[in-house]
Amino acid sequence: MASDIDRAGVAKAYGRWAPIYDLVFGKVFDHGRQSTIAVADKIGGRILDVGVGTGLSLSDYSPSTKLCGVDISEPMLRKAQRRVRALGLPNVEMLAVMDAKNLAFPNEFFDAVVAQYVVTAVPDPEATLNDFIRVLKLGGELILVNHIGAENGARRVFELAFAPLARRLGWRPEFPWARLANWAAAHGSVSLIERRPMPPMGHFSLIRYRKS
Ligand SMILES: C[S@@+](CC[C@H](N)C(=O)[O-])C[C@H]1O[C@@H](n2cnc3c(N)ncnc32)[C@H](O)[C@@H]1O
Repeated sequence: MASDIDRAGVAKAYGRWAPIYDLVFGKVFDHGRQSTIAVADKIGGRILDVGVGTGLSLSDYSPSTKLCGVDISEPMLRKAQRRVRALGLPNVEMLAVMDAKNLAFPNEFFDAVVAQYVVTAVPDPEATLNDFIRVLKLGGELILVNHIGAENGARRVFELAFAPLARRLGWRPEFPWARLANWAAAHGSVSLIERRPMPPMGHFSLIRYRKS
């Protein structure tokens, strides 16, 4: 099936966002970032931050948590690299341009995978989630924070109307919860351990899966 969003288009969109990303999305997404980091730091060990973007999250992890960050957009990642150099973050082991669906890491390599505001932006969310689980150790956690589309009402009407423009900006505003629920049921080796509403206005969710 042809994807409704393509990788080159997303990379181009975030290339355009890169210079102003922190200004536009720094504060508004901060609560979700902090909440995922708090969960990830409790797990500790080695964490993969997928779609790390400009690296806004990196300095907020515990210095004892080892971090790898990947992103499809070179301009976003260059900002992350500059940030790491400026702040001197020895726990950041690597930053690399990489597609979230084809992670160049061995199976069962990470204690947790964190994806903040990423899953609705990738062309093939289910295959991407499968690769997140592949690189997770048994018992490890996948920690997502994302906008989840409304099931009905005025918000759903707005999200559907906004969807064509939003795709050009780099995400799907109407991404339904059912898509994640169906993926988890089909995968068979993940269990949902939490779904927590996040600001702004509870339209975002922190979602945790454990690999079993
Ligand atoms: C909304 S931004 C979130 C950035 C960061 N996680 C944050 O909290 O600000 C989405 C990020 O996902 C990245 N991204 C989108 N598709 C990707 C893919 N297929 N593989 C890796 N990164 C991707 C984008 O380049 C962008 O940096």
